[in-house]
Amino acid sequence: MINKQLKRLTTVSTALCLLLISFCTLGSSANGPYVERHYDPIPAAPRTQSVASADEKSAGCLSCHTDTDSKSMHESPGVILGCIDCHGGNADVFFHEGEDELHVLEEAHVLPSYPSDWNFPHSANPSGSYTLLNREAKEFVRFVNPSDLRVAEDACGACHLSTVQAAKRSIMASGALLFGAASYANGILPFKKYIIGEAYDEDGGASAIQGPPLANPDKAWEEHGVLPILYPLPTWENVPPGDVFRVFERGGRNLTNLFPETGLPNSLGLLQRLEEPGRPDFRQSNRGPGTGGRISVPVLNLHKTRLNDPLMWFLGTNDNPGDYRTSGCGACHVVYANDRDPRHSGPYAEVGHTGLSKTVDPTISKEEEGHPIKHSFTRAIPTAQCMSCHMHQPNMFVNTFLGYTMWDYEADAPSMFPKEQKYPTDHEIYEASLTNPESGCCKRALV
Ligand code: HEC
Ligand code: HEC
Ligand code: HEC
Ligand code: HEC
Ligand code: HEC
Repeated sequence: MINKQLKRLTTVSTALCLLLISFCTLGSSANGPYVERHYDPIPAAPRTQSVASADEKSAGCLSCHTDTDSKSMHESPGVILGCIDCHGGNADVFFHEGEDELHVLEEAHVLPSYPSDWNFPHSANPSGSYTLLNREAKEFVRFVNPSDLRVAEDACGACHLSTVQAAKRSIMASGALLFGAASYANGILPFKKYIIGEAYDEDGGASAIQGPPLANPDKAWEEHGVLPILYPLPTWENVPPGDVFRVFERGGRNLTNLFPETGLPNSLGLLQRLEEPGRPDFRQSNRGPGTGGRISVPVLNLHKTRLNDPLMWFLGTNDNPGDYRTSGCGACHVVYANDRDPRHSGPYAEVGHTGLSKTVDPTISKEEEGHPIKHSFTRAIPTAQCMSCHMHQPNMFVNTFLGYTMWDYEADAPSMFPKEQKYPTDHEIYEASLTNPESGCCKRALV
């Protein structure tokens, strides 16, 4: 289990165009302490069962969650499921008046391995959770969101298997287009047939993902237009740098051999030959591809930047209007309060845009941001829900459908740039990046 803590963080996202400039790279928020837990395996939800059996699997839960919007999360009474079929937990634990509620909750719920990162016992989606879902135990992932793609096969697969598998292969989960285009255009990979995409196994490990079963698998591409397999991004330490990024390396006046002189401190006299820091370089580095033990900066940036937004595998950032959402099927089918305009949100507009809940479940705070509006799936997905991801270029700038357009960096420059050049501090750049993932905001000092 300890390995989980060491698991590399792989939020993968960035913008093709910005790869060519430079980056505002946000580190993950500090990781809270790990708590060792014993998790009982959670059986898969059954396709059929009696109503009595389903009720039994909800009984204890309902002693606190005395009411909820759709008991089975489905409006249709034809779907027979108990709470623990989806969430797991212990439905034999009942709360009685006068007992310590938190203690009973701990008996009934599946508990997180990273309680402080989840703000336990608060149940709102934590803001800026980055790759927390990858570090967390699969049993807790299933407890907070049975529709997360790491666990949906068990929670939903009995009835929706083909949809679950298609959702995992979806471009909205893999981001294959961005990784394909960015790696080709930046000289990381030499071909245009895309082979890189994001996918995780149930334990949150980076995983390859195969295309659907085909009549003629050898001709996946030619006859079916299907990519046969997508691999995870390699770890950045292992990838030799492509030639193209030499241009962005520090060159400067004191250009020297970049191979390390192990054991010979200052053998090249570099300490005496100081460069003025932070000034534009007038020469490119003299390093050849893969030399000098250097790593691939573009691959590192693909791993770390967030311009493509967390994909379907992760929670939204849950910190601003427009960013409240869960992961997996629920990213579309569970509506959060994100947008007050009825043209974007339809009937959900009246709930506001601050991620507050309107559930009848008495346990859920109505003042805490980061809850779904209701405990219910819908097919009536508002545009605003799609827009929680589709608001910048790499995942298709769909805001045009709402009548918005991108800033034009030249024609709109007078409105975008401050009259006086600003020099934001590192802290100001960090703060600006938290609400505006577009790295230009720091570069242009729009803080
Ligand atoms: C002792 C009372 C109690 C019992 C019993 C109980 N819950 Fe809860 N549950 C709560 C409270 C209170 C919250 C909300 C905590 C908060 O947000 O402050 C909650 C939150 C949740 C959440 C949201 C968790 C998250 O982090 O997003 C889920 C899911 C949940 N309960 C499912 C269940 C299931 C399933 C059962 C039965 C196995 C169950 N609960 C039994 C009190 C209880
Ligand atoms: C079909 C599977 C399914 C069943 C059955 C189900 N839930 Fe859920 N539940 C979900 C999903 C999916 C979410 C996650 C929504 C999210 O993260 O936005 C959820 C979220 C929750 C939450 C958190 C809500 C919030 O506002 O943060 C609670 C509490 C909860 N469920 C309780 C229950 C209880 C109690 C039952 C049984 C009466 C139950 N669930 C049955 C799928 C289910
Ligand atoms: C026991 C079978 C079963 C399980 C398990 C199940 N579903 Fe469903 N689901 C159904 C059926 C049946 C419908 C169609 C209901 C209808 O036509 O009204 C449905 C419909 C839906 C819909 C469309 C919206 C709606 O309510 O009609 C969504 C979204 C959905 N399910 C998501 C999920 C997710 C996500 C899970 C797992 C967390 C899940 N379901 C688990 C049987 C199931
Ligand atoms: C969790 C984030 C997320 C949500 C929510 C989301 N999308 Fe996407 N979508 C993406 C990403 C990421 C891509 C692929 C971008 C890439 O690889 O460059 C994408 C791609 C697409 C594409 C393909 C575009 C193309 O040119 O191939 C369509 C169409 C689309 N989304 C529609 C929708 C609709 C409709 C909704 C709402 C019902 C929605 N999306 C919700 C993240 C999301
Ligand atoms: C990118 C957004 C998105 C994601 C992610 C998504 N869906 Fe859907 N789903 C939709 C849309 C849009 C519809 C069509 C709604 C309509 O017009 O009836 C739909 C329809 C459905 C239906 C109804 C099908 C029917 O025949 O009417 C089910 C069931 C369903 N989805 C289940 C799931 C499950 C299970 C997952 C996760 C494995 C999932 N969806 C993930 C957007 C999404």
